[in-house]
Amino acid sequence: MRILGIETSCDETAAAVVKDGARILSNIIASSAEMHAKTGGVIPEQAARQQLISIIPVIDKAIKESGQNYQYIDALAVTAGPGLIGSLLVGVETAKTLACVWNKPIIPVNHLLAHVYANWLTDRPADDNRQSTPDFPALALVVSGGHTDLVILKGHGQIGWLGGTRDDAAGEAFDKTARLLGLPYPGGPSIAAEAAKFTINNSQFSIHLPRPMINEDNFDFSFSGLKTAVLSRVKEQDRPTRFVESRRAGRAGGKRVKEINTSQFAYEVQEAICDCLVAKTLKAVKKFKPKSLLLAGGVAANSRLREKFQLEIGSSSLEIKFYVPPPKLCTDNAACVASYADFNYSPIPWKNIKANPELTIVGEA
Ligand code: KG4
Ligand code: ZN
Repeated sequence: MRILGIETSCDETAAAVVKDGARILSNIIASSAEMHAKTGGVIPEQAARQQLISIIPVIDKAIKESGQNYQYIDALAVTAGPGLIGSLLVGVETAKTLACVWNKPIIPVNHLLAHVYANWLTDRPADDNRQSTPDFPALALVVSGGHTDLVILKGHGQIGWLGGTRDDAAGEAFDKTARLLGLPYPGGPSIAAEAAKFTINNSQFSIHLPRPMINEDNFDFSFSGLKTAVLSRVKEQDRPTRFVESRRAGRAGGKRVKEINTSQFAYEVQEAICDCLVAKTLKAVKKFKPKSLLLAGGVAANSRLREKFQLEIGSSSLEIKFYVPPPKLCTDNAACVASYADFNYSPIPWKNIKANPELTIVGEA
């Protein structure tokens, strides 16, 4: 089956054609992130306008690059939520229109579950079977800009929610602390790039941030304290005579930070977030003993997070296969939307599909 996926939940406009839930025939992504970098974050109204401009060209390109025309598409899949209402509506209403005009089935998809299915995707040729697919039961950590959830999948469509963030999401923690440090939006990649400049051996390590809830006996997370801790450390350092005016800070509209410490701050922010995510996830692995561990969502693109999981699993006696999609498939894309729809094929009449910005993963469990 060939499914055309459409994703417009935030500032990416994406369309992809995926065969049998796994093979990517095309994967087109237009992003308005550069525009939002100028204001230090997404302005929903502007994101929605950009979605409108990009949606038809992106879908058109995805169909052309798949080497087919629309007649060969068996079904459409569209992100119904969660996300920004203006952005979601563009994708949802476009997909409904196409389903109606083309007379094809359409499947509404939960964006958070779609992220998980990036672990089933491959762009390798059809005769290359090197990539294995995850076995069930699988434990998934979904870490995006707005959500942090730990879920167990007993099979396709059989989901149990184990825990999640009680306040800020992991991606939000990256974005907000980056802003405090004067680093540009989106904060995750900026913090990662800044942290990479820090060499622990050559510097005095003087910044220690909390790892909230890391030892608590649950599968929840809390990241808002981290933002407050960074803010108070930044204020402590805020001695005007020692300040270096950073061009970055001006652009991002963030605080000016004594330049010498920005990379150390970024390093410690990244360590703190990753430590909490790894500790709680592996606690769940020990308790539920799944066969596979799946990382998903934009924050899963973080190399340090991927490395920490690999190191911890490698040095433990845990028998688990660890999956993490290539970075481009961790952040928002439509290929994973199409993949989810294939493995959880449940079309509904197009008239009944509604954008729902508040959709959660809990509701699916
Ligand atoms: O899944 P995603 O693309 O969109 C949402 O569904 O929210 O995730 C976006 C989030 C942002 O908070 C961004 O800062 C974060 O993912 N992110 C990263 C990295 N790349 C994107 N966080 C840490 N390291 C990265 N390399
Ligand atoms: Zn996302």
